This record gives sequence, structure tokens and C-alpha cells, in this order.
Amino acid sequence: MSTTPSHEDFRNAARAVADLAADHLAGVADGPVWQPMAEADRRALLELPLPEDGTPLDGLLKVIERQVLSAPMGNGHPAFFGWVNSAPAPAGVLATLAAAASNPSSAGGDHADVHLERAVVRWIAELVGFPAAVPSAAKGTPGGILTSGTSMATILCLAAARHRAAERAGHDLRADGLAGLPPLIAYATAETHSCVRKAVELLGLGSRHLRTVAEDSDGRLDPAALAEAVAADRAAGLLPFLVVASAGTVGTGAVDAFDPIADVAEAEGLWLHVDGAYGAWGVLDPVIADRYAGMHRADSLALDPHKWLGVPVDCGCALVRDADTLRDSFSLVPSYLRDAAAGDFGWFSEYGMEQTRPFRSLKVWATIAHKGRAGLVADIARTTELARHLGALVEADPELELTAPVHTSIVAFRHTGGDAVNHDLPAAVQARGRAFVTGAVHRGREVLRACLLNPATTEADLELLLAEVRSAARELTGRPSAS
Ligand SMILES: Cc1ncc(COP(=O)(O)O)c(C=O)c1O
Repeated sequence: MSTTPSHEDFRNAARAVADLAADHLAGVADGPVWQPMAEADRRALLELPLPEDGTPLDGLLKVIERQVLSAPMGNGHPAFFGWVNSAPAPAGVLATLAAAASNPSSAGGDHADVHLERAVVRWIAELVGFPAAVPSAAKGTPGGILTSGTSMATILCLAAARHRAAERAGHDLRADGLAGLPPLIAYATAETHSCVRKAVELLGLGSRHLRTVAEDSDGRLDPAALAEAVAADRAAGLLPFLVVASAGTVGTGAVDAFDPIADVAEAEGLWLHVDGAYGAWGVLDPVIADRYAGMHRADSLALDPHKWLGVPVDCGCALVRDADTLRDSFSLVPSYLRDAAAGDFGWFSEYGMEQTRPFRSLKVWATIAHKGRAGLVADIARTTELARHLGALVEADPELELTAPVHTSIVAFRHTGGDAVNHDLPAAVQARGRAFVTGAVHRGREVLRACLLNPATTEADLELLLAEVRSAARELTGRPSAS
């Protein structure tokens, strides 16, 4: 007997799934933002036995409803301010099902998903003002590729930077590896996301060769300190090759001053990589767009449609000024693929690590096409406005202090109760279930950081967050409530 459901059974189950998803999205704001799973529910999942016999589709949906959708992360809720996790864009949710039904490998070839990926990569570039990603036969044209996230995009971009540095040194990196090259030195601030160090380590560069460059008082990379560090490393016979700037740090949302950094990079022959995972999209907001001046001068930009745009996870993007640097780093066409009609651009699988690649572009297309550029601008501008409002509420609150200026849509703040209280506050707020915030260490101090990505968040949600922080702090310190 076939294990493939009948078309009719599939249609009925698909309709039921649509209802499940719609009910979930409609009800998400009504429940607690998050709550710890009951031990029995956790164990029920952890200890799921491998089934010998199959379950009909409607039986699967019952499990999804009762055991999975009932215990969400919370990031669909308007009072969720944790990490950098957005609510899913409904158009992207629909596209995810359609993409799975089509189920191509977007490695390359002549089918819609491949051409759509080239189009949405160009859209992404156009949205953030990066050189339009339309690779052609001409050498040195810009290009890009969708990835699982910025961590993977960073590996691709840093591999391209490493390849170019080796090539300039007359070294065949792909054949000889790093042996025989002087140490390649990279530069970033202490606030740079950990994915950069991971990539540096993975690419064999060694975290010892990732220099920590000083920041200015606003948390932005200091270009003069960068130039000094490069000069010192050159004098020591090392090979400076890369500077990483941030378009929105994960801790405070700080945006580096790209123009002076790009000036140093140009003068010193460094590859300028920008980590825009979270914050590059902020350039769409006319109120803060001028902070991003010079971002387009980067050699590479990594950014995440699955963050501020709300494209359902996973979807990152690597944009490069010269697409050949990626292709030269990764292209390896085995004999079983050699006859495929590649065209000028070749296959996406020549530009990164993945061979079989998911159909990510449909959910990106759906999310952007549904809102339009104007809709995206309105949503991003709304969240930065909310962040500035939250910053003002914090400043007006005698129990709280703002620990960094609000550059984008992250608000870093502290309770006056001291480091131990601030360390424990995120978990205490989360456990109360009404708002969700996470913590970080910023300049050696424990802080809370609220990341605003959801345009459905209201001013009342912000007041609720601060009320929850105050109440949780009172619980932690054993002080009686003021109200
Ligand atoms: C600034 C920044 N860079 C990089 C990353 C890593 O991106 P991803 O989780 O998509 O791999 C994050 C994730 O939060 C981030 O905020």
C-alpha cells in the first residue's frame, strides 16, 4: 500500500494546516508571551518513540497543535523583545508551504526558484543601497546569495576576503592552504557579533589574529585606532587584510561610521565587511538613514531577511561587490554536474558551501512583494520610533538608566539595583509571562536589551515591559511593591 496520501486527503489536511496557522497567528497576542514547558510536555517530546507504523495526516496535525504550537518561543507576541527574533510575516508563512510543495534544489539550473533568487538578492541590495547584485559575464560585477543566516553569510564573505588577500600575495590558497602565508590579520570591535570570530576560527585564521579595535563613546569603531593597529601589524611583518564594521551591533544596535572606516580600508588595501544581520535594514528609515552613510562602500555585506523584515527563518544573505571573489573561493563543479546549463552566472552552489539548496527566495519575495518598499519603510520606521520612545521612558524612570544611545531599534538599559539584579532580571521578567526581554554584558556591566522588530508592538507594550522589569526587580530584591 502506498504511503503517499491521496490528493483529497492532502487537500483536506492542507486546509486544516492553514486554519491551524491562522488560529495560531490570531491568538498569539492573547496568551503569555512565553512560559516554561511543563516537565511532562518536555519529556513527551524528548522521549518520542520512533513509530513503527505511520500516522494519518490529520493525526499529525493534532500533535502539531497540541504538542508544538502550544509551546512557542514567544517571538510572535508584540511584547517579545528578546534577542533578535521577529514575528513571522504572514505572506512569508504562506510562501513557505508553497515552496515546500515545489521543493526544488536552488543549487542552479533553469527553473523559477533560481531566477527568483537572483531577483530577490537584487531587491535586497536595492533596498539597502548596496551595488545592485546582477552578476554578469563581465569580471568584477556585484552579486549575492541567500544563506541560512548571517553566520553562514559571514563565513562566505570572510572566505572571499581571505581568498583575495592570498591572491594579492601571489599565493594559491585553494591548493596550498594558509601554509606559507604570513598571518592574516582582521580587525573588529569588542561589540562585533560572535559569528565573526567563529568564521575567523573556522577559516583557519586564528582568533589571536582578530584584533579588538577601540570604540568611540557611542560604541562605534574608532577609525584612527584601526589605522594605528594596522600600521603596528604591518611593521611586525603581518598581513592586515580585513576590517569588520557593524550596521547595528547585537548589544546596543550601534551603527559604525562607515565612510571613515572605508577610507582606512581603501588606503590600507583591507577588505571591508559589514555585519548588517540585524541592523542594515535601518537604512530604510529616513529618520536614521544618515547613520548608514558609506555602507555601500563595503566589499561585502551580510544581512538577515529573517530578522527585521520578518521573513520566516531561515534566510540570510551575503552581498559582495565582486561576485567573482565568491566564485573563485567556492566553485568546484564535479563531473556529474558539468553538463548543466549554467549561463554566465553559473550555479549558486559555486558561490557558497551548500550544494542542495532550499527554496528560500519564495518567502523573501512574498514578504517584500506583499508589503512593498513603502510598507517595509513604514514598519521599520515604526519600530525605531518605538525604540526612541522606550529610551525616553527609561530615561524618565528613576529606577532605570539607559546604558547606550538608541541608534536603531535596540534599547540597552539597566535597573539601578546593581549587577546581580540585572543579571537575574531577564529570566525573572520572562518567567512572569507578560513581556520577554533578554540580557547582555555591555562594557563589563550587566544590561537588559530590548529589541524592537514587531510593528504591531504598541506604546502600551513598552510601558508593560518597564512595569514588569520594576516588579521583577522588586521580587529579586525582596522590596515591597511601590504600587
Ligand atoms: C549583529 C548580528 N550579527 C550576526 C548575527 C548572526 O546571524 P544568524 O543568527 O542569522 O546567523 C546576529 C544574530 O542575532 C546578529 O544580531
